[in-house]
Amino acid sequence: MKVEFKPEVKKEFEAIAARYPVRRAALLPALWLAQREFGFISTEALKATADLVGCSPAQAMETASFYTMYQKQKPGKYHLQFCQTISCLLNGAEDVRAAVEKKLNLKDGQTTADGQFSLQGVECLASCHTAPCMRINDEYHENLTVEKINQIIDELKAK
Ligand code: FES
Repeated sequence: MKVEFKPEVKKEFEAIAARYPVRRAALLPALWLAQREFGFISTEALKATADLVGCSPAQAMETASFYTMYQKQKPGKYHLQFCQTISCLLNGAEDVRAAVEKKLNLKDGQTTADGQFSLQGVECLASCHTAPCMRINDEYHENLTVEKINQIIDELKAK
């Protein structure tokens, strides 16, 4: 199903594009707009973004596929992105991740059947000093322990 950016979002993009020497250089913020507007970067959202920026869908996909921050599948209502880079690994990230997998019966890249939770391993979240850490949607959760993550998930389930 074809998707289109709303006129006000196109206007927002034009203001962003004006800051770049060439329109195509604004592909990253355009992908953010697409993710915000359409929930994730579907094939249709990718085409709409390519049209907006003036590049081919293949070029837009090359960029979107490079970054884990662009969701290529519809994430759960609570999208858990756990850091799997060295500082977090040295500080217990594997135990935290295993606790999440067990509690939600989820593996990396999966979403619960009710659409509430999805799990994704990502690279450094730039919060190494508070390792291990995880992002849930746009919020950071730091200095995680198994007890802490179980409590966070219980609180999200209760919402
Ligand atoms: S290694 Fe996990 S935030 Fe940097």
